[in-house]
Amino acid sequence: MKFILCYVTKTDSHGGANIIKKLLEYLKQTHPDDLKVLRTIELLMRYHEWVPVDEIVRKVKMDEKDVLYRLKRLNKFEFVNRSRYGYRLSFGGYDALAMNAFIKKGLIKAIGGKLGVGKEGDVYNILLEDGREAVLKFHKHGRTCFTRGKRYRDYIVDKRHISWLYTSRLTAEREFEILNELFPIVKVPEPIEQNRHAIIMGKICGDELKRVDLEELGVDANKLFWDIIEEIKKSYELGYIHGDLSEFNILIDENGNFVIIDWPQAVNTCHPDAEFYLKRDIGNVVRYFKKYKIKEDVDKLYEYVTNKNKNEEDKNEWG
Ligand SMILES: Nc1ncnc2c1ncn2[C@@H]1O[C@H](COP(=O)(O)OP(=O)(O)OP(=O)(O)O)[C@@H](O)[C@H]1O
Ligand SMILES: [Mg+2]
Repeated sequence: MKFILCYVTKTDSHGGANIIKKLLEYLKQTHPDDLKVLRTIELLMRYHEWVPVDEIVRKVKMDEKDVLYRLKRLNKFEFVNRSRYGYRLSFGGYDALAMNAFIKKGLIKAIGGKLGVGKEGDVYNILLEDGREAVLKFHKHGRTCFTRGKRYRDYIVDKRHISWLYTSRLTAEREFEILNELFPIVKVPEPIEQNRHAIIMGKICGDELKRVDLEELGVDANKLFWDIIEEIKKSYELGYIHGDLSEFNILIDENGNFVIIDWPQAVNTCHPDAEFYLKRDIGNVVRYFKKYKIKEDVDKLYEYVTNKNKNEEDKNEWG
C-alpha cells in the first residue's frame, strides 16, 4: 500500500482528520487477503443483511481458518460489524474499499481534514497526484434521518433490495452522472472520479453563501442573484432541476466566483412535479436575496427559466 500523507487543515473543525488518519493507518496494515475477504462480504451483502461465515468461505475459496483470521483482523480495523448471524461491512469498511481503489489508481497524494458537515456525507480536502486540490465526498445515505430518504425516492423506487450500502453507492453514481452532464456548462464542481459511494470532485476555496456577507466581500448582490438564475436556467436547458437549492448548496469564493453543489436529488425536467421543484428552488433563492433588497417574482422567474425551451420547441415544430 502506497503511503498517503495525512494533513490537518484549518478547516478541520469536525475532527475528521483523525477518522481518516485511522482509516489510512488500518488500510496500510491490510494484507491483500484481508481486502479479498472484505470485497467478498461486500458482494454477498446483496443477498444478506449479515453474511454467514460459511457463505464467505464458499465464495472466497480460502480455508475456513484463514477466513476467520482475516475476519478477526477486519473486525479489529473496524471494517466489519459482527453479530451472531455473521458479518457485514461497516461504513468504515466501505470507505476503505473506495479509498483503496482511488489509491490504486494513483489519484490521491494527500488527505486533509473534513470540510463542512453534510447530513448525508463526509467531505474531505484532498491533494491529487497532479498537485490540484480537490474534495472527496463519501455519501452516507441512510446514516441519519431516514425521512430524508424521500429525497431520492424517484430513482430508488423500483430497486427491491435497498440497504445503506446500495443507496449510498446509487446516490454517488447519480451525483457523479449529473455533474458530468452539467460540467462545465453549469457552474458545478468538476467531476473527477467515482468509486462505490465516493466521489472526487473539484474544490472551491470558499464558503456557503449562507455564511458570507456579500457587502463585506464586495460582491454585487443583484448581479450574483441573476448569475444564479442563469445557472438554474442553463441546468434546466440541460434537463435538470437541482431540487434542493438554497444558500447552503451554493459555495462562493473571495472573488465572488460560485458553484452549485449537492446534486444527487436533482430531478429531470420531464418529471411530473418538475414545476413544484423548480419553483421551490427559485423561491429559496428569491427568499435569500430579500435581505439584499432584491424583490423578484417566483412565477415570472419560472417563466423566464423555462421559456427558452418552449421557444425552441416551437421553432423546431414550425421549422
Ligand atoms: N466541491 C466542493 N468544494 C468545496 N467544499 C465542498 C465541495 N463540496 C462540498 N463541500 C463542503 O461540504 C459540505 C457538504 O457538502 P454537500 O452539500 O455536497 O453534502 P451533503 O452531505 O449532501 O450535505 P447536506 O445533506 O447537509 O446538504 C458543503 O456544505 C461544503 O462546505
Ligand atoms: Mg448540502
